[in-house]
Amino acid sequence: MNVTVQGRTRHYRTVTFDAAHNAVQLIEQRLLPHEFKIVATKNFRETARAITDMIVRGAGAIGATAAYGLAQGAQAFRGSDLKKFTGHVASVYQTLADARPTAVDPVNAMNDVRREMARGETVAEQQSLALAAAEHFADEDVRHCKAIGRHGARLIRNGMRVLTHCNAGWLAFVDIGSATAPLYAAQAAGKKIHVFCDETRPRSQGATLTAWELAEQKISHQIIADNAAGHLMQRGEIDLVIVGSDRTLGRTGEVANKIGTYTKAVLAARHKIPFYVAIPLSTIDWKLKRGFDIPIEERHESEVLGAWGMVENLKAARRAYVRVANPSSGARNPGFDVTPAELITSIITPAGIFKPAALWRQRSKLGFEK
Ligand code: MRU
Repeated sequence: MNVTVQGRTRHYRTVTFDAAHNAVQLIEQRLLPHEFKIVATKNFRETARAITDMIVRGAGAIGATAAYGLAQGAQAFRGSDLKKFTGHVASVYQTLADARPTAVDPVNAMNDVRREMARGETVAEQQSLALAAAEHFADEDVRHCKAIGRHGARLIRNGMRVLTHCNAGWLAFVDIGSATAPLYAAQAAGKKIHVFCDETRPRSQGATLTAWELAEQKISHQIIADNAAGHLMQRGEIDLVIVGSDRTLGRTGEVANKIGTYTKAVLAARHKIPFYVAIPLSTIDWKLKRGFDIPIEERHESEVLGAWGMVENLKAARRAYVRVANPSSGARNPGFDVTPAELITSIITPAGIFKPAALWRQRSKLGFEK
């Protein structure tokens, strides 16, 4: 996606790999929209920490980061003992898989990398296969998002007002995004649209990241408080909802996504507004049988009790945490929720648009591997 920094417009991917320095390069998303900065993680532990601390976030982006992190960890191994190397890779894999629990993309991405690595007969061969497979995952993520755009654009009519939640845009992937892909494709086809970005407390990814992306892309948009969507739906001011997902169950069509997604799906059903979920194939979990079993990340209570933002004084602006809540109160902070299949109109995938209940029937088209 193109970003304009200090008057200069350049194309960036959210995640890239610097092979010369064995480093993963990431857009520091915690600083956006106030500052655009690229940071490098120098080893797989730093890469895992960047995922946990949400320097990089969004299911597709952390999938690519984990794939590169696995290649980075493999590359750092010295020696030619294949057995020791395999043990080392298993521990790198586990560290990265544990960085954030809800999104399945990191695990699917690393499984792809490991499967490719297994074709190599020496440590050196496996190391270079790992990097090639990570690059392949990142490129495929971009191709999938483009295909989501092609399929999803036909759902968007000229003049539509679309609600989205959290950030399922290019910052949440390697490029383009899932929920935003149909919007960008509709814009490219000359359609006029208006997007409502849910603020998405507690971390405000809608207000900070989605709004920034849409502004860079020159798409008409407004940020709304999370609680405002019901009111706008009731007044007929929202025509369509599109969100992303961190884990979609291939067997049931249930969708885990940012906390508050379920609430929006209930509201959309009540007002008969189509509710779409846009996902690349790496977001499908073909194993789990019940949404209830999806591990839901619980984050630190400070995210609910306060907020990060820019504090301006006469000398300079600086990023600061502001405590909002009553000082003696604690908080509960589940990061994700699960939307049942019956509340979802359809799922937009790179292979087409499917009813949630049809995913399992269509599994061979959707990349299911026995
Ligand atoms: O906690 P985050 O910011 O990583 O959550 C991101 C979301 O919930 C996105 O909607 C989701 O990853 C789907 S788009 C990749």
